[in-house]
Amino acid sequence: MTLRLSSPLDMHIHFRDEEMLKLVAPLTAKTFSGALIMPNLVPPITTKEALLSYIKRIKEATKEQADFEAFVTLFFQADYSYEFLEDIKDSIIGIKLYPAGVTTNSETGVSSMDINVLRPTLESMSKLGIPLCVHGETNGFVMDREKEFMPIYESIASAFPDLTIIMEHITTKAAVDLLDKYPNLYATITLQHLIITLDDVAGGMLKPHLFCKPIAKRPEDRDALLHLAISGHPKVMFGSDSAPHPKHKKEACGCAAGVFTAPIALQVLAQIFEDNNALDNLDKFISLNARKIYKFTPIEKTITLIKKDFSVPSSYDGFNQTVVPMFANESIPWSLK
Ligand code: DOR
Ligand code: ZN
Repeated sequence: MTLRLSSPLDMHIHFRDEEMLKLVAPLTAKTFSGALIMPNLVPPITTKEALLSYIKRIKEATKEQADFEAFVTLFFQADYSYEFLEDIKDSIIGIKLYPAGVTTNSETGVSSMDINVLRPTLESMSKLGIPLCVHGETNGFVMDREKEFMPIYESIASAFPDLTIIMEHITTKAAVDLLDKYPNLYATITLQHLIITLDDVAGGMLKPHLFCKPIAKRPEDRDALLHLAISGHPKVMFGSDSAPHPKHKKEACGCAAGVFTAPIALQVLAQIFEDNNALDNLDKFISLNARKIYKFTPIEKTITLIKKDFSVPSSYDGFNQTVVPMFANESIPWSLK
């Protein structure tokens, strides 16, 4: 049995920089037609110079794959001028907002989610048609952080009805329920949040390679996300949030947040959709919805999967980096042709 996927897109991924970029970017470029790249580098991407030179480094790292396009984002600052955004607009696909301190490299994110503080940049983005990608978590109790963020999504969505807002990597039924309340709200869902709950991370032996932000939640949350994804709902897209960290930073006292799924994402998605009799909706989740939401036509690229076991390696190594993927040392039923 084979499956032909037309221009798959990963609408939320971390490519990092330097050696890690060289190791991980080709893995995505091989299997996806395009990917939306997060700007939380150190320091984050906040200037035109930093953005343009990052684009160059990504192009260099993926030069073997001419049929891949990276869509870069800018790191949200509350005081970007209209002129700056107008000038940079054509080089970015969106702007990513991180509340300060909620996740990896977000220390210089926004320190207040007060709509009046965010207004200058949001107003310009709305006028210029630049989508807003949001890491929607508060600094509250870890299981409640996303739920507590819902009123903030509501206030931005109602104050800026023309602004396209993407609730990134949603993990709760609360976020699923909010999606249809505002026409300008959209969402991405990761691979791991369709599969795991907090039990898989910490219910038995602690699994550092499944630890990410937002943390996986309850079974009813996972089920709501799965139901949404396989339904082909037009407001939801695949965004892996594949977030590579070196093995020694995951298997450590003080484990970095992030699950590395890039090399196995499409194969495992095929399995999930097949198991749920929803293969007909897979193209919507991994490509068609994103094209409409972000209004672009991706590079034409067909990826063929075959129903044949793939032994996921214990790690991906190169450029002095070692990264452990989700399902390391396990077998998955679909392979890349
Ligand atoms: O688990 C995560 N890792 N969540 C994020 O929001 C950021 C990411 C990273 O950059 O490592
Ligand atoms: Zn992310």
